[in-house]
Amino acid sequence: MTSYQSQLGEGEGIAEELAESQRAISIAEFFEKNKHMLGFDSEARALVTAVKEAVDNALDACEEAGILPDIYVEIQESGDYYKLVVEDNGPGITKEQAPKIFGKLLYGSRFHAREQNRGQQGIGISAAVLYSQLTSGKPAKITSRPKGQDEAQYFELIVDTDTNEPEISVDETTTWERPHGTRIELEMEANMRARSTLRDYIQDTAVVNPHARIEFDEPGLDESLKFERAERAELPDETEEIRPHPHGVELGTLLKMLEATDSYSVSGFMQEEFTRVGGKTADSVIANFNDRHYGRGMAWQPPKVGEDADIEAAVEDAVANKGAETTATFAAAVSDAIHDRDRVAYHEVEAIVDDAAEDAEADGDTTFGSTVRENAVDAAWGAVTADLTGDLYALVDDVTTKRKE
Ligand SMILES: Nc1ncnc2c1ncn2[C@@H]1O[C@H](COP(=O)(O)OP(=O)(O)OP(=O)(O)O)[C@@H](O)[C@H]1O
Ligand SMILES: [Mg+2]
Repeated sequence: MTSYQSQLGEGEGIAEELAESQRAISIAEFFEKNKHMLGFDSEARALVTAVKEAVDNALDACEEAGILPDIYVEIQESGDYYKLVVEDNGPGITKEQAPKIFGKLLYGSRFHAREQNRGQQGIGISAAVLYSQLTSGKPAKITSRPKGQDEAQYFELIVDTDTNEPEISVDETTTWERPHGTRIELEMEANMRARSTLRDYIQDTAVVNPHARIEFDEPGLDESLKFERAERAELPDETEEIRPHPHGVELGTLLKMLEATDSYSVSGFMQEEFTRVGGKTADSVIANFNDRHYGRGMAWQPPKVGEDADIEAAVEDAVANKGAETTATFAAAVSDAIHDRDRVAYHEVEAIVDDAAEDAEADGDTTFGSTVRENAVDAAWGAVTADLTGDLYALVDDVTTKRKE
């Protein structure tokens, strides 16, 4: 018998033959085959994961909306399956959003926020829905009543794994006794072997969230377990968005951040978007960059006297409030010292400016503070490198315009 492999190799155009079987795989299809990645690897664990995903979301939603959580979790035997019900008194979910939240993987509100929440990926609850439909064939049943609305919306839906879009079978308005909140009902293949893990999870969640009231019911219990809200317990402080530390950011992320920023300057961008970066750090990062790219560590040939770049005039312009004569003497001293050299490096310009400033201070009663000196160094260095940096800027402009096109 000829194998498929040897048949494939015989003709020409094998790449074309292979191409016929290559296609994009939807994220839902991927997780359908790899559900262990999401914590649904055994029937016992699946139930714990589904409870955790729904309770995490309930706590997140309540806290985000400033509501003290009141959560009800129930597990029932339902023929060959187990039915999980989780209810919260959160802000509810709008009619438009609900199908996507439960019926589309990688859909959520937290992925792009650098904030400490329980949920992050936008995959938790839709993965539970996916597991439920795969094992029981039943749709998820969702009821949600947004705060301030008289009626609730009821949906039955599954995830269409080919398209990763919700497939809604029932969509109707209904009434619900909770003034606001969300209820989710999932049937799934499961077992209660992890009963003690499940109870521990509920109990631990109640302990670490004393501001929440949690009620839990499972088969075999005479009465549901109630974990009352601790007296006078308040909502935890709202989380603040954390900015990344510059050392922790990879190049690709940095490029994306640059594209998205509202800042107008590099210095502003660094101070706004990163933690622990102030004006000083931003300046030193920029200076290091300039050193590396424009070769400030290298010695440059100063322009000839009389060429366009006029060091003396540039320094004179940069020095303010020092009296005309002092300024002129100072600028001339800097310019002469630079022209005396064949080549000059940035740190030498700094030394030259310092010398000239000290001479000027010794001659009169003016002081040349660090800001004036820095401005003078910038101006002198700018004049020394004017020709070349002009070319470089033109080059950078050219490249960026081309990239944008
Ligand atoms: N009970 C709920 N009440 C209000 N909004 C909810 C509720 N459950 C989920 N959501 C919204 O749906 C989104 C998706 O939930 P999902 O659990 O899939 O992802 P997530 O919580 O953002 O991240 P993770 O994948 O880590 O759980 C949430 O980001 C939240 O905006
Ligand atoms: Mg979640």
